[in-house]
Amino acid sequence: MILPSLSRRQFGDLAAKSLALALAAPALAGEAAASLPLGVPDDAIQLNANENPYGPCPRALAAISRAETIASRYPEAAIERVTATLARLHAVGREQIALGCGSTEILRAADAAFLAPGKNVVVAEPTFEAVAGFARVFRAETRKIPVTRDFRSDLRAMAAACDANTGLVYLCNPNNPTGTINTGAEVAAFLHAVPKHAVVLVDEAYFHFVETPDYASVIPWLPRFPNLLIARTFSKVYGLAGMRLGYGVAQPDLIRALRAQLLWDNTNAAVLAAAQASLEDPDVVPRNRRLLNGTRDWLCAELHREGRRYIPSHTNFVMISLDRDVAPIIGQFRARNILVGRKFPSLPDWLRVSIGTRPQMQAFLTALRQIAPA
Ligand SMILES: Cc1ncc(COP(=O)(O)O)c(C=O)c1O
Repeated sequence: MILPSLSRRQFGDLAAKSLALALAAPALAGEAAASLPLGVPDDAIQLNANENPYGPCPRALAAISRAETIASRYPEAAIERVTATLARLHAVGREQIALGCGSTEILRAADAAFLAPGKNVVVAEPTFEAVAGFARVFRAETRKIPVTRDFRSDLRAMAAACDANTGLVYLCNPNNPTGTINTGAEVAAFLHAVPKHAVVLVDEAYFHFVETPDYASVIPWLPRFPNLLIARTFSKVYGLAGMRLGYGVAQPDLIRALRAQLLWDNTNAAVLAAAQASLEDPDVVPRNRRLLNGTRDWLCAELHREGRRYIPSHTNFVMISLDRDVAPIIGQFRARNILVGRKFPSLPDWLRVSIGTRPQMQAFLTALRQIAPA
């Protein structure tokens, strides 16, 4: 049986549909794609996918434009080069890195490697939907553990939900869509509490935006936790979402199991050149962090001034409480050529807005004041 391939955004729609429909309907890909903002004018303000409005750094753009010289060859050498650069960056061996077509491919491969019918995956609710979405495809059970009252992943409850059949535990830290973090100390206790037979997948897609010192990447802890797998992406701080590159970091055995689920040559020559150039540019991360966190903090100060509730965020997006169903509100923004959302069913009154440029966020605020006065 050939399973339809699902894009990241299509998960939002698929969440509402049954697996039976997903497998039965040959038109699924077209149907889901129809819900994407096709027909939205080019000048739409896109604040709906946590992308980086500044895009790739100039060195990455130059590397992409040179890609015609490498486009005719399979990208093995570039894969080795980027893998070696990432291994140096994280002080791990090359055999501890697996590249993916976006970090989505890493998440999918983790589900494929560690889940099956009869197995379960433990996730927070809400969190990024890909792992639970692919778990449905692999016919594994998903155990959704509500976030705490302060909207953080409930690590104690998540560890307690594990049993002998738990294949995977997914911790998104910082969490999408809440923008909250679990501290390094909390995650360390969690890693000790989760049974060793379960793989703990820590998604650090938004790692670069966190500035609080009690947060920590878990990559340096790999020697202590053989069941740990970390996913990272070039889609956020590096501004390469459309190019598709992510990676997993883990102990060699785990990476071998993951690689078995990946396509050969799953990353393209142009994005590898762009990633290499981005990694060699020491300014990319601090510049984008400064710009985006600065705009986020300005937005939050405005929201605070207006007496609006929002979840303090460690990421390039913010959740704002509107005290009513956000689905129609998302439509009203769209009518004004501003894309926001999506709606997260367990937080139906909260609107997720990605951080754009300052003028884009000014336009967002103007529209918010009209659509949902404080
Ligand atoms: C937490 C998280 N993980 C993974 C992804 C997937 O990113 P990509 O496949 O572009 O690397 C996203 C995208 O929004 C995300 O929010």
